[in-house]
Parts: sequence; structure tokens; C-alpha cells
Amino acid sequence: MGQIPNHVIDEVRARADIVEVVSSYLPLKKAGANYRALCPFHQEKSPSFNVNPQRQIFHCFGCGEGGNVITFVMKREGLSFPEAVKSLAGRYGIDVPEDRDKKSGDSDEIYSAVQTAQDFYHERLLKQAPSSPAGGYLEKRSLNSAIVEKFRLGYSPAEWDSLFNHLSGKGFDPAVLEKAGLCKQSSRGNWIDRFRNRIMFPICDSTGRPVGFGARVIGEAEPDEPKYLNSPETPIYIKSRALYGYHLAKEMARKENFIFVVEGYMDVIALHKAGVENCVACAGTSLTTGQADMVRRVCERVVALFDSDTAGVQAARRAGPILMERGLKTRAMVLRGFKDPDEFLSANGVKEFMALAGRAPTFHEFLIDMTLSAANLADIESKMAAIREIIPFIRSLDSEVEKSHYARMLSERAGVDYQALTREINKGSAPSSSPPARTAVKPLTQRKQAPIRRAERALLDILMAHTSLIGKLSENISPDDFSDPLLKSVYETILEAFNNGAVHAADMVNSAKDDSVRREMASISGEMTPKDKEEAEKAAADCLSRIRAGRGELKKALNEFVEEFKDGEKRGNMEEAKKAYEKYSNLEKK
Ligand code: UTP
Ligand code: MN
Repeated sequence: MGQIPNHVIDEVRARADIVEVVSSYLPLKKAGANYRALCPFHQEKSPSFNVNPQRQIFHCFGCGEGGNVITFVMKREGLSFPEAVKSLAGRYGIDVPEDRDKKSGDSDEIYSAVQTAQDFYHERLLKQAPSSPAGGYLEKRSLNSAIVEKFRLGYSPAEWDSLFNHLSGKGFDPAVLEKAGLCKQSSRGNWIDRFRNRIMFPICDSTGRPVGFGARVIGEAEPDEPKYLNSPETPIYIKSRALYGYHLAKEMARKENFIFVVEGYMDVIALHKAGVENCVACAGTSLTTGQADMVRRVCERVVALFDSDTAGVQAARRAGPILMERGLKTRAMVLRGFKDPDEFLSANGVKEFMALAGRAPTFHEFLIDMTLSAANLADIESKMAAIREIIPFIRSLDSEVEKSHYARMLSERAGVDYQALTREINKGSAPSSSPPARTAVKPLTQRKQAPIRRAERALLDILMAHTSLIGKLSENISPDDFSDPLLKSVYETILEAFNNGAVHAADMVNSAKDDSVRREMASISGEMTPKDKEEAEKAAADCLSRIRAGRGELKKALNEFVEEFKDGEKRGNMEEAKKAYEKYSNLEKK
């Protein structure tokens, strides 16, 4: 990913409110003018993670982590700076212009190849006679022309190289077609199409551009043939970050504040046929954190709706914790007695479907039900195996109230003693419920600061709170006037950002050259800063004179030390030299 223009970065930073963004990951509690939480970047028992809404900055007093909203998303999601900016831009509907470097030149071609392939497949489907196998299959699954258009469904001809010929005729390089996952070279060296004689389901990115395909056999698959073939990962199709139907689901998901996560392409289509557009499927993979984040961008509630076979229940079991971990309120259901939503909707209609969805149990209740109903409760071993399977899920709940709620439910449904079950749940909790060894960080003991350092921090604090003072004050103090090298770097960062047009402290954080500078900036909290600009200016002047006085004293002492040291050395008297050094270092400590 190349450079993102500065104005876009600033816009993202300005629009993405840090309290709102952080809240979507962890619960924030108001504490005075700020917000508090348990720090997500180190393990702790009492909250030292602080969000300052006025500064739009977070800082943890425990581990020292800190920065602006972009830093938070980077750290939390493990993203690069441009990726974090893009992710926030997506969430806030801000356009990020495509970068024009060589690499994206490549992906432009891949996008264009996939788009052209989609048009080709779609045309071919429209040309199929109703009596052809493809036409007959559409008919059988009631895929009318409105659905065919909406999902841009297609047909890949049965020939070996029809797409290849079509695309190379349009000037596409075979290497690009290979990178796009559309064609490959056979062992004999000729180019062939990856998908042949299948119904094509284009998979789109969040803006609706096709990036890959799912391809279904027409009718029943032969025993040695997969029902669906999917595009491989390509530079533009990253499976863990794609959801089938996402671009069509966003609007209704936002409006309803919830979404169905289903298993298959056909489930999404069946729901659309019934007018339910807020649904997505994870195409050909199990649900990932990246996909849960995409969902979280458009709504807060999810119903995981999986096929009623064991694979479906297993998939729901895996998906639930991933969705909940991302802060989504998660319910789960299967349609007992029906293979999938398509079958259910054809038999019972959408009203009954929505009623059922409205009663969908929470993920934990679903899990208890499913696991117990698969076990033989008359057999103590089978029952215990089921309970053992459920316990870790209850244990991982944050809230004690929820824990006891589900412990009670499990004890009642399984017919076991509640107290004993609770002991069992708590027993393992110490070692296994704590997240896997993240390096424990000892809280920083509030560093006792030298008076000069304090004045320097106070000055920087004022500059970050009242950036309009930077121009004037910078004439009176240069980076070299700072005695603390870290604070000197902070000051340089502020000056550079200011000269580049930044007017908000939270934007200046982006210019920090390294982590320690960024953290130091974030730790300069601003709680004591005068709100009033004139008062702030007076306070700044006071800081300046304290810094100067301190520096003057230090300089004098340093000169004296050097002189005395030379003398002492000349006379071979190390005692003298040592005394001089002590005098100097005592002053520096002050
Ligand atoms: P299903 O077999 O339930 O497919 O697999 P479906 O979409 O409901 O289609 P119909 O109703 O049977 O025609 C669910 C999903 O698992 C993936 C596909 O993403 C599919 O939509 N899958 C399934 C594959 O990737 N390959 C396969 O061979 C089968
Ligand atoms: Mn299915």
C-alpha cells in the first residue's frame, strides 16, 4: 500500500471519534472529563487505560502505550498505518483515493480482468436457453432474472479456454489472468480456464467490485468433484477479509442494526429473494476476525444462521466466540428439520422465518442446547463430556452475572448440581481463562521528575492544547533548549507537524518518528492545562523562564565542573574531580 494523502489522514482522524472507536472494542467508563478501561495492550486488574476525548488521545499509565485513534486501531488490529487509516475510512465512509504506484498498477489490471470475466460469465448465462442445463438449474432453484441481475450471476462455458480467449482478445496478459485466479497453464503448457461449466457467483469487495468467484456445479456433483470451486487468494481477493453479499447487506444491516451470518452463497440469495438483505456468508472459509470486524462496522447484533447438519453446528460453535470477541451481540440458530434457509423459506415463508430469528437464543444458550441434545444425558460419561465442552465458553465470559446465569442454565438442563458446577467453572479459571501469556508489564512507578523536566512537559502540554501558540512560542525556544532528549524529540515532532499544517495535537502524533516519542506525546495529558488562551500563554512564558533558568544554572555548573575536573586531573587529585562531578550531577537531578 502506498502513500495516503495527508488531507485524507487528517479527515479520518478528525471524523473517527476516539471514544466511539475505542468503545467498539472495549467498554469505557466515564471518569471525570476522560474515560477509563482495562488496558487492551497489557494485562491488568484495575483500569489504567485512559481516553481523553478533548485531546482525542489515549494513554495507558500502566504500560505506557498511547497515541491517537489511528494508533489505537493499528495496535488493536495489528495493522500498518495505511491499513488502519483505510479501515477507519471505510467505517466512516471516507474515500481513500487509490494509490498510483507500480504495485497498485498491477492490482488495477487484476480488478479489470475479474470485472471483465464477470461480464463475460453473466452474458453467457443470459444466452443460455431455459431448456439448457444451466437454464434448467436456475429454474429449479427459482433464480429469477431480478436475482441473476442483482448478484450478477453467470455461467462459465464448458470449453477449456473460452474465458482465456475472450480476455486475451481484449489484450489481457496471461500472467495477469493467472494472478487474478481466472486461468492457469496446463501441464502441457496451454492456458486453460479455472472454472468450466459452472454457475458463477461473483464475490465482491465492500464497494461492490468483483474480486473473485464461487462456482457451483450444475445439479449434483460427481463423487470426485467439488460442489463449489472458489477463486484462490489473489492480491485483490483476501478470503479472510471478504464476505459474500456484504456490499448488498450494508445498508439494511445499518438500518436494522443487525445482520445474518449464514453458511453459503445460496443462503444469502434465498434470503434476498425473501426481501431480507442484511445477510452475508463467509465464502468457503470459516469465519475470521477480519470478517467479524467488517460486520462490526455496520451493526452491533448478529444472528449466526447455520445449516442444521453437524458441520453447520460446528461452524456456529467456532464463529460465535469470534463474533463476540469483536463486541457483537451474538445469537445463533439452526433451522431444525430443514437443510438450509432456502428450504425453510420455500416451505414456511419469510414471516415465520423472521419470528424464529426474533426468538433466536443467545450464543451460549444455543451452545448449551446443541451440545446437550447431541449427548446422551442418561449416560454420565457422555453428559460429563458435553459439560466439559461447554464450560470453557462459560468461563470466558467477562461478566460474573452472565457466568452464573449460564451456569444455572447448564445445571438445570443437564441435571447437575449448580454449586458443584460453579466450582468446576471457577477451578480452571485462573490459568486458562487468562489470555495466553502476553508479556505482563509492570506499572510504571510514577517517575519522579526533575523540575526542569516538569517545566518542559508543561510547556509541551500547553503547545498541544493551544496549537495556535506554537508559531509565536517557537521563536523563543529551540529544540536544543530542552534538557530531556525525549522531550526534545516531542518538541521537534510538534514543530514539524505544525509546519506541515497540523492544527490538532492528535494529528501531530502521526508525525512521531518512533514509538517512545508517540507514547511520550500521549502521556502529556493536558489535565492541568489552562483552557483560556491568554492564561495558557502566561503559563507558557512561566515554563520558558523556568527552563531557561534551569539551563543557565546547569550550564554554569557544567562549565565549573569541566574547569575543576581539569584542575583536579592536572594536580592528579581525583578527590577534587569527584567532588566537582557530584556537584554537577546533583544539580542535574534537581
Ligand atoms: P453448501 O453445500 O451448504 O452450499 O455449502 P449452498 O451455498 O447452501 O448451496 P446449495 O443450496 O447446496 O446449492 C455452504 C458453503 O460452503 C462452501 C461454499 O461457500 C458454500 O456456499 N463450499 C461448499 C465450498 O467452498 N466448496 C464445496 O465443495 C462446498
Ligand atoms: Mn447450504
